[in-house]
Amino acid sequence: MSNDSAPSRRGFLTGALAAGGAIAGSRVAAQTPDPAITELQPWMQYLGDGVDARPYGTPSKHEAHVIRRNVEWLTADPVSSVNFTPLHELDGIITPNGLCFERHHAGIAEVDPAAHRLMINGLVDKPLVFTMQDLMRFPRENRVYFLECAANSGMEWAGAQLNGCQYTHGMIHNVMYTGVPLRLLLEEAGVKTNGKWIMPEGADASAMTRSIPIEKAMDDCLVAFKMNGEALRPEQGYPVRLVVPGWEGNMWIKWLRRIEVGDQPWHHREETSKYTDLLDNGIARRFTWEMDAKSVITNPSPQAPILHSKGPTVLTGVAWSGRGTIPRVDVTLDGGKNWHQARMSGPSFDKSMHRFYFEFDWDGKPLLLQSRAHDSTGYVQPTKDELREIRGENSIYHNNGIQTWHVNERGEAENVEIS
Ligand code: MTE
Ligand code: CO
Repeated sequence: MSNDSAPSRRGFLTGALAAGGAIAGSRVAAQTPDPAITELQPWMQYLGDGVDARPYGTPSKHEAHVIRRNVEWLTADPVSSVNFTPLHELDGIITPNGLCFERHHAGIAEVDPAAHRLMINGLVDKPLVFTMQDLMRFPRENRVYFLECAANSGMEWAGAQLNGCQYTHGMIHNVMYTGVPLRLLLEEAGVKTNGKWIMPEGADASAMTRSIPIEKAMDDCLVAFKMNGEALRPEQGYPVRLVVPGWEGNMWIKWLRRIEVGDQPWHHREETSKYTDLLDNGIARRFTWEMDAKSVITNPSPQAPILHSKGPTVLTGVAWSGRGTIPRVDVTLDGGKNWHQARMSGPSFDKSMHRFYFEFDWDGKPLLLQSRAHDSTGYVQPTKDELREIRGENSIYHNNGIQTWHVNERGEAENVEIS
């Protein structure tokens, strides 16, 4: 495919759309003579930067549009707000550190690791305080997990709202964490027999707290200090955050400073007025911790239209489940009349993002694209109608309904709802 000869994806897109969308086929012969072949480009004629010019690397300037973005009208102030992962620009399963969406309630805490402590107190035999150096002396593990905010797709409950998977589904990232199993730290402190819950607390000005059952804490939680091999970014909780695999992002306390052990849940703000799901009958579901299986087509999508006319087309997307792996994703091109099994590619880890592809021959006609995830427990991602039937329309959190993109003859995609 020869889109590479265009000055940039964005320039190409603007040009193509301005020209009325009559883009040449995907296997165009090069112009003769093609200046991209016949002309000497600057980078062919001059020496580039030396090895001392970029001690910490950043992406090519041609990728400057690949950034987290926020939606200004969503929140009153950016310090208690969210930005979104540009899912339509990514491939594979790992989210680069600089593109992991951020959600914080009191801005980014700039913690000095030398002045940071992690305390374990409450119903333990021996209250303990760890420095970062102390934490480094416990055995570590490396595991890949997705973190999805429970409010991801929350704006989409009552109908199609935001035009782009970055905004509809971008409150998720998928990272390899290095950290100490929380179980080892709790065992060091000695949990008393009546210790049934933990309450992790953040060192930021929001002092975020959540109640987590001791079974989960002892099972697979990590006290993590590395993401994708390097130190956590300040945005993600530097120097240390809690990893709560498969469970809603709010519980993954950043800038982790204290873990209290108790005999019952604390019912703090983030598990009462927030992060509960108000049903139609006025009763709220609580402790809805696990993230249900979900998927989204990232390309094509509103921010990533099809840039060629009919012919071979690559559809791709991501899927995940808080209960296990994703052995299968189905996709439809016609709004659910016919489903096809997508091709999974890349490692399949428990409670991690999975990548799927579906290559097809586009006939140049409009498409109604959907994807449907199946997880390893046999659960199948529901339609939004099926979800609303059970949960009503008051909800914000835990919207894992099937997303639809309408693609027109010009390859442009739009967020729509049909089921
Ligand atoms: N931890 C602290 N200390 N303060 C916060 O504001 N936000 C929570 C959680 N942990 C938060 C926090 C929410 S709602 C989510 S979705 C995740 O962090 C977001 O993690 P991220 O910023 O790495 O994407
Ligand atoms: Co959140």
